Amino acid sequence: MFICVCLTLFTLALANTASPTFVSCLKNSGLKTEVPQNATWTNSTTPFNKRFSYSPSAIIYPTQTTDVSEAVKCAVKFGIHVSALSGGHSYSASGYGSQNGSLVIMFRDMAQITYSPSDGTVAVEPGARLGDVALELNDNGRALAHGVCPYVGIGGHGAFGGWGFASRNWGLLIDQVAGAVLVLSNGSVVDLNATQHPDLFWAIRGAASSFGIVTRYTLHTHQAPANVVRYSYGFNNPNLSSDVFAKLLSSYQTWGRTAPKELGIEANIWNGGRLVELGGYYMGNLNDFNRISASLLQATGPPSTTYVQQRSWVAALTEVNGGSPLSTLGKPDVVPLAQYFANAQIPNTMSWFIQFELWGGGDSVISSLPANATAYPHRAHLWTIQFYARSTTSWPAQGTDFVNSMVSAITNSMQGTTFGAYANYLDPELIGWRNKYYAENYGRLASLQKMYDPRGVFMKAQNIGAPDL
Ligand SMILES: Cc1cc2nc3c(=O)[nH]c(=O)nc-3n(C[C@H](O)[C@H](O)[C@H](O)COP(=O)(O)OP(=O)(O)OC[C@H]3O[C@@H](n4cnc5c(N)ncnc54)[C@H](O)[C@@H]3O)c2cc1C
Ligand SMILES: *[C@@H]1O[C@H](CO)[C@@H](O)[C@H](O)[C@H]1NC(C)=O
Ligand SMILES: *[C@@H]1O[C@H](CO)[C@@H](O)[C@H](O)[C@H]1NC(C)=O
Ligand SMILES: *[C@@H]1O[C@H](CO)[C@@H](O)[C@H](O)[C@H]1NC(C)=O
Ligand SMILES: *[C@@H]1O[C@H](CO)[C@@H](O)[C@H](O)[C@H]1NC(C)=O
Ligand SMILES: *[C@@H]1O[C@H](CO)[C@@H](O)[C@H](O)[C@H]1NC(C)=O
Ligand SMILES: *[C@@H]1O[C@H](CO)[C@@H](O)[C@H](O)[C@H]1NC(C)=O
Ligand SMILES: *[C@@H]1O[C@H](CO)[C@@H](O)[C@H](O)[C@H]1NC(C)=O
Repeated sequence: MFICVCLTLFTLALANTASPTFVSCLKNSGLKTEVPQNATWTNSTTPFNKRFSYSPSAIIYPTQTTDVSEAVKCAVKFGIHVSALSGGHSYSASGYGSQNGSLVIMFRDMAQITYSPSDGTVAVEPGARLGDVALELNDNGRALAHGVCPYVGIGGHGAFGGWGFASRNWGLLIDQVAGAVLVLSNGSVVDLNATQHPDLFWAIRGAASSFGIVTRYTLHTHQAPANVVRYSYGFNNPNLSSDVFAKLLSSYQTWGRTAPKELGIEANIWNGGRLVELGGYYMGNLNDFNRISASLLQATGPPSTTYVQQRSWVAALTEVNGGSPLSTLGKPDVVPLAQYFANAQIPNTMSWFIQFELWGGGDSVISSLPANATAYPHRAHLWTIQFYARSTTSWPAQGTDFVNSMVSAITNSMQGTTFGAYANYLDPELIGWRNKYYAENYGRLASLQKMYDPRGVFMKAQNIGAPDL
């Protein structure tokens, strides 16, 4: 089992000034460049999570791989750090470089999705959003396993893992990567796959931001299911009885150990613990689902509410996103994000939820790989538990303690258990992050990082080689 903590807080972003010679280098290379003097700067540098504010030295908007290569060469010349920003959905605004003065490679204009019927792969540029990828593939009768929120970018999602309800069946997003195009710290462009630069191909599947800028992923796709079974069971616990809570979670855990891989499931703890929802979708037929869910409900006891419906693939992806459309084209993400979080509202300035996501158990494809198959190591674990808190006003003084205490309530009671963490559920204050994110893979990642980025062009907090906490 492993754990992560994710916090949000709103503050204001301010601007910084860039060295004119560095900016000239970018402009002379023909790059679309944005600096603090541009009227759009405040908007472009305001992160999804306003708890963090970083002032880049400049932002470029590439339209092709060579633009990224030219930008990296300018940055090296002027000693500037480089950071990619794809969908901008990092929990800690890490796309802005996690420090002031970085050059940000903003992938807004590189979002193409090109399906190849001949080999069933799809080439995806990093700025493409999960929802648009799902819709484009579905138009071709194809599908991928990836996360729930349609606005998350392929670039960051594929950099560290990428989990969704289809992942026990098809793997994490990184497990579906056939190849990638990577811009290295000296500006060179390399094509990676299992036989070309296998060391870098290994390293980018879990720690991409430490090794370069991915400008294209080639992904293996799957036949889109005609239908899946979308389901949700609500368990009310109005008196917050810890016996009721413990029985539910422990029966879910025991049952999950043998759940078939076609079942995608998580437990959501809503309303301050008064509602536990077990839900997701099953990638098979209704009869099989009814048999499987009967054994689950026998263990948990009867739910207070039941929702079971056969749905088309796209309808199921839409429902697990709270009903908001998957297409992000032409729409800012504020509204769907607000809807996404509205579920978690409690009458307080701070809202929070916990998700017990079943990653392993049974014949889960995530767990079918050894820990050293990719840079992401936590293959044998049963659960990822996400602790999420957010504030629409200023971050309450006790907020961080509150979330950390939820985490220690679990970890303290399980002395002797090794807890890891998932780098897409980023916690910028995570003590011992090297071991928690990367476990036994950290050593190999550290030597590769020294080899491929000796000057630390891509260096930032919690990248490979950055100081441990
Ligand atoms: C509302 C919401 C829902 C989420 N749901 C899920 C979920 O269901 N499952 C799940 O697994 N995760 C989920 N996440 C976490 C998400 O996967 C990560 O935050 C992810 O890193 C975001 O990717 P991005 O491109 O949008 O972010 P960005 O902020 O653009 O980037 C995040 C990190 O990746 C790096 N990066 C981005 N692009 C590249 C690139 N081209 N090359 C190299 N490095 C790059 C950035 O430098 C940064 O360090 C969710 C996050 C949010 C906010
Ligand atoms: C980074 O820049 C922001 C905005 O200008 C400023 O508030 C912050 O203090 C800076 N951080 C550091 C570490 O200098
Ligand atoms: C920033 O302003 C300059 C000068 O007006 C302009 O050429 C450039 O296109 C602007 N950048 C962006 C990203 O809009
Ligand atoms: C920021 O830019 C986006 C996309 O260009 C636009 O939709 C949005 O309205 C802008 N927000 C602000 C506050 O200007
Ligand atoms: C890697 O790419 C090369 C060049 O395109 C190709 O010949 C080779 O078959 C690929 N290897 C794998 C395992 O996909
Ligand atoms: C909750 O507690 C109240 C007061 O003790 C009691 O009347 C009620 O039956 C309890 N409800 C449940 C679902 O246990
Ligand atoms: C993983 O470890 C095994 C056993 O030590 C080894 O045989 C294998 O080559 C390793 N795989 C990779 C990709 O390093
Ligand atoms: C860039 O780095 C790669 C990997 O270390 C190396 O193979 C290549 O020769 C370098 N290119 C240049 C132009 O130095």
